[in-house]
Amino acid sequence: MNSTSLSDRLLLANLPEEEKANGRRLVRALSLVEGKLRLVEEELERRTRSEVPTISLIGEYLVDGGGKRIRPALLLLASRLLGYEGSVDVKYAAVLELIHTATLVHDDIIDGADTRRGRVSVNRRWGNELTVLFGDYLYMKGMKVALEEGDVRVLDLLADVTLAMTEGEILGAERRGSLALTIEDYLEVVRRKTALLFAAACRIPAFLVAGRPEQAEALWGFGLALGTAFQLQDDLLDYTASEEDLGKPVLSDLREGKLTLPLILSLPDATADERAAVETVMREKGFVSVPVSAILGLVERLDGLGRARRLVEEYAGRARDHALSLPAGDSRDALLLASEYAANRRK
Ligand code: IPE
Ligand code: IPE
Ligand code: MG
Ligand code: MG
Repeated sequence: MNSTSLSDRLLLANLPEEEKANGRRLVRALSLVEGKLRLVEEELERRTRSEVPTISLIGEYLVDGGGKRIRPALLLLASRLLGYEGSVDVKYAAVLELIHTATLVHDDIIDGADTRRGRVSVNRRWGNELTVLFGDYLYMKGMKVALEEGDVRVLDLLADVTLAMTEGEILGAERRGSLALTIEDYLEVVRRKTALLFAAACRIPAFLVAGRPEQAEALWGFGLALGTAFQLQDDLLDYTASEEDLGKPVLSDLREGKLTLPLILSLPDATADERAAVETVMREKGFVSVPVSAILGLVERLDGLGRARRLVEEYAGRARDHALSLPAGDSRDALLLASEYAANRRK
């Protein structure tokens, strides 16, 4: 088992100086669920073992390979906030991480990604065929683990969210290489491919306790806004973070033919030459005849980064508003810090 504390993993997120105090508070906040997060790791190790050695091998590679475990952490904090005292939350937290991991390995095939979490991606190491099958295995394993509890409401939600994620990936893939992506289209893809799973993480604990419907609603809204901020920040980091922090080259999204927030916000004001340069990078799948600096210069000149930043903050603010309608206490404080983290993380 990975000996790094999960809170440290988040601390390693290299927050900007002005966010350091929040970072330290977040680590303290996560210690509220540290014991349960460790159980989630054990659950993940156990559930990715199979009589078929290749599955165990890839499973170990992925579980050991890091990952921030943000979705499990949110589920456990929401569960604590609602006063849940059983152990099923650990199981559902592992389920969410299994589903998340399935989407990541499939996403890396689709994106042709060579690296994930700073290491060689599963598709690059084991090939697309085995990686597709391994992703399928993870999806169904997640569902099977959830099925053990037999709560149809949770299963229904998990099925809906997983279907929406696939829809989001399809919509994203279909728009690859196109300059015509609108901000509305983009936000719809983000909602499906990322935000709904965060919303499920926050909402599921409300099925474990006989709580009030407004609390379930608030947790759902919180997760949706937080997940959106998280993905928007991910897309922004592709422009602003270092390769070392990201565990993959900068401007990977554009190399993969993906137009994301900073460029979507800049393109309407770009010159014909600038638009052509963006199209060329997507067509050449890399910076062959257009330098990285040309794209960075463009988004800076047109304030794409500033505008993207403001949108991240707007969603983080919405998450905060939802959280503030929940019962006050250390768990709510931790959720508030998580929304700060999602919007300010550096990796
Ligand atoms: C990556 O998710 C995919 C996005 C939604 C941006 P994470 O950033 O949570 O990935 P890991 O699990 O920490 O590697
Ligand atoms: C997120 O999309 C992947 C899923 C939510 C399935 P990205 O393609 O932006 O994720 P990264 O950047 O590869 O982690
Ligand atoms: Mg990707
Ligand atoms: Mg990304």
